Parts: sequence; C-alpha cells; structure tokens
Amino acid sequence: MPNRKIILSGMRPTGKLHLGHWTGALENWVALQNDGGYSNYHLIADYHALTTNLDTSHVYEYSIDMLLDWLSAGIDPEHSPVFRQSQIKEHTELHLIFSMLITKSRLERNPVLKEQVRDLDLGPTSYGHLGYPVLQAADILLYKGEVVPVGEDQMPHIEITREIARDFNRQYGNVFPEPEGKLTKFSRLPGLDGKRMSKSLGNTILLSDAADEVKKKMKKAVTDPKKIRKGDPGRPDICLVFTYHQKFNASEEDQIRRGCESGELGCVDCKMRVAERINTFLDPFRERRKSYENDPARLEKILEAGEEKARSVARRTMDDVHKAMKMG
Ligand code: TRP
Repeated sequence: MPNRKIILSGMRPTGKLHLGHWTGALENWVALQNDGGYSNYHLIADYHALTTNLDTSHVYEYSIDMLLDWLSAGIDPEHSPVFRQSQIKEHTELHLIFSMLITKSRLERNPVLKEQVRDLDLGPTSYGHLGYPVLQAADILLYKGEVVPVGEDQMPHIEITREIARDFNRQYGNVFPEPEGKLTKFSRLPGLDGKRMSKSLGNTILLSDAADEVKKKMKKAVTDPKKIRKGDPGRPDICLVFTYHQKFNASEEDQIRRGCESGELGCVDCKMRVAERINTFLDPFRERRKSYENDPARLEKILEAGEEKARSVARRTMDDVHKAMKMG
C-alpha cells in the first residue's frame, strides 16, 4: 500500500505468550494494525531461536503456539502477513551482506548479548549469536520497516539496525529507511512474584489461560509483605497486584488505592477483582482462539499466504540491494 508506513516486528518462538508480551509489544502491533495508517509485517524469528538453543525439535510447535496467540490477540493475517523467517531465504542473504558492514567489537558491546551470556549457561558465544542483531537488521530492512514496535529490551538492536542502514546507504546508495523503535506506554508488567514476567521463572499469566487458571494464579501473587490481613494498611506502589489494576482496571485505580491504603480492602478481594478484569480483557482473545484452534490446516494456510507475500517484498528489496551494489 503506498503512503502507509511500514511496521515490522517479530518474536522468537519460545512457546505460549503471556501478558508481558502483550503489554510489552503485541498491544502496539494490534493498535497500529487497526489504526489503518500502517502496513504491518510480523515474523516468527525461528532462526533467531537457534542462537540460544540448537535443539529445533520444538521450534515448529512453538511457532504455531505463538501464531495462535497473535491471532487470538487480534492480529488479522489478511492485513498483516505473518511468516517464518526460515522460509524466506532473503533474510539469510541480506544478513550476510550486512555482516560485512559492522565490526566484531560493535557486536561484542551489545548489552543484550552480554546479558544472555551472563544469565544463560551457554558456553562460548557462537558466531551466529554474536550476529543476532545483524539478522534482526535484515529482518527489519528486508521489508523496509520504518516503525518497529518492540519491548524496551530490544532497543539496542534497533540502534544497530539504524547504524547498518546508514552505513549501507552511505556505501552503496539510498535503499533503506532508518527504522524507529516504538515502545508501549506500559512496557514492564511484573510477574506474579514481582520479578520480570518470564516463562523460565514460572510467574506468568498466559494469553491462553482459562478464566479459573487466571484466578488460581492471581491468588498466589505476592503482595505487600507488611499487609498480612484485611485491616492492615497496604502500600499499593510496591505491590505488583496494584500494577495489574493500573493496567487492566484503570477506572477503579483510585478506589483500589484508597481501599488498600486504609486497610479496608483485603488482598484476596483485591486479587479477585483484578483477576476478573483480566478475564474480561482476555474473553475476546478466547473467542477468537476458538475459531483457529484445532484447525492446523487453517494455520498452515495463514503461514503459507503470509510467506508468499513476504517473499515477494523481500525479493524486490534484494533487487534494489543488488542494483545498488552493482551486483545485479
Ligand atoms: N529479537 C526479538 C526478540 O527477542 C525478535 C525479533 C527478531 C525481532 N527479529 C525481529 C523483533 C525484527 C523486531 C524486529 O523479541
């Protein structure tokens, strides 16, 4: 579509998505898609999954789980092609070209890499893992992405993408835009233990959780340790449950704050109220999910159609690249 800004974003297929994925990025994908002024492309970064885990036996299953979550959240595949990185060969080709435009030391300074090396027990860093942001730059620039809605942890990769776009354009002529990252207003939702919400920490609420599961999980959420029983005054600003109220129950935020601070509102009631709001929020997800789940053939078709669209854009960009490089 001419004159529409291009949105490109993706996620690694690591299994079912949780509320942190929604508040961190997915919410923006859906909002921008529905805005009408953008063309969205969303990729399943299945090659990126290999940077931290060479075992590919679950990659397809996780990709489908994630696709189902995207569709449940309101991604409309007719308007927003969804596709697997591994099925569009041009990603690897552009990655190779870009890999010549960035130094090893620049990549070694990437804070995301440093954090993963520290937190995951990975052994020596592979060449591919070091090049993670180079592949991400190829993901974005292959579609000439201009706006990249991601979580704040991804901003260093967007910065590297901008540098690569600039360096390519300077060297070979103007082919690529300089994409901008776009954060959600509420980019960090804590997990039920107060730490970052993450599958590996077991502190998530999944987009696919049933209503009673949400309640059960919320019951176990950590609250202000000084508020032991109803009547005790609580401190909403240090309570993760209050953060959930701010996000999913904004209209009652003040009332909840007063109830907590005065002690009138007990933690159990407070949790059940927010669990209900979260369930109201997730109900349309559940409704949409029904129409897709148990229909693997439909999901396959959605991917196939998305991959065909993505491939044709990717080929056009690579023609531009080859022409600019006089290698056409
Ligand atoms: N690195 C991103 C993440 O871990 C996933 C990703 C891969 C991505 N390619 C992308 C995000 C391109 C935005 C644009 O979440």
